[in-house]
Amino acid sequence: MIEVIRVKDYEAMSLYAARLVAAQVRLVPDSILGLATGSTPLGMYRELVRQHREEGLDFSQVTTINLDEYCGLPGTHEQSYRYYMDSNFFSKINIDPELTFIPDGMTSDIDACCEMYDALIDFLGGTDMQILGVGENGHIAFNEPHDYYFTGQTHKAELTANTIEVNSRFFSDPAEIPHFAISMGMRGIMSAKCILMLVSGAQKADAVYGLLRGEVTPRCPISILQLHQNVKLIVTDDAFVKIED
Ligand code: GLP
Repeated sequence: MIEVIRVKDYEAMSLYAARLVAAQVRLVPDSILGLATGSTPLGMYRELVRQHREEGLDFSQVTTINLDEYCGLPGTHEQSYRYYMDSNFFSKINIDPELTFIPDGMTSDIDACCEMYDALIDFLGGTDMQILGVGENGHIAFNEPHDYYFTGQTHKAELTANTIEVNSRFFSDPAEIPHFAISMGMRGIMSAKCILMLVSGAQKADAVYGLLRGEVTPRCPISILQLHQNVKLIVTDDAFVKIED
């Protein structure tokens, strides 16, 4: 079931999402949180950091599992997702770094790394709450559109030309833009007890349409969330325009 929470702008989306995450952590201090990167959840992380500093929100028992990481970027690279998480969130709260999991983009054995990641998700029993953003082409994590199937397992994903182009804004040297990533698959994402889907911006309106009105198809990866029992879509007005047509 998808509960739609419409908000007026990015700030409202971020506050709403942060309140839900904070409530989860307060109610279940040893929560397993599935975390996402990109520009979308930045405001949510900022608000969670504020709540930690000013309201004592305690992350000391929380475990986190991130969705994905670029292949070939070490965690010290400013565009790696490990660097993003450390600098925007983990270093600013009281989480145990040992309990923050992100695929290793520099692994010499990608298959083993993927298998271990799925074993970890299984061992933890899935996430209690999964934060998700969406790409302009409907991808979630780096599960890109595909003609025939959804990929269940954590896997090496080849990024589409569109995704590479959209993400190129973050790289000063185009030669550095990764073409591959390690991505959690649909099984890991769908194992979440609750999914918070954050969407903001007119460029995401097609993805919102695919989620709420489209058929379930790997051509629009976000559409698989129609099959999940507990999705909260926190969506800004400008991303909702195709639904109102
Ligand atoms: C990347 C990430 C996704 C994210 C998407 C959207 O491709 N792998 O997890 O949802 O970008 O990013 P943004 O929030 O910057 O629009």
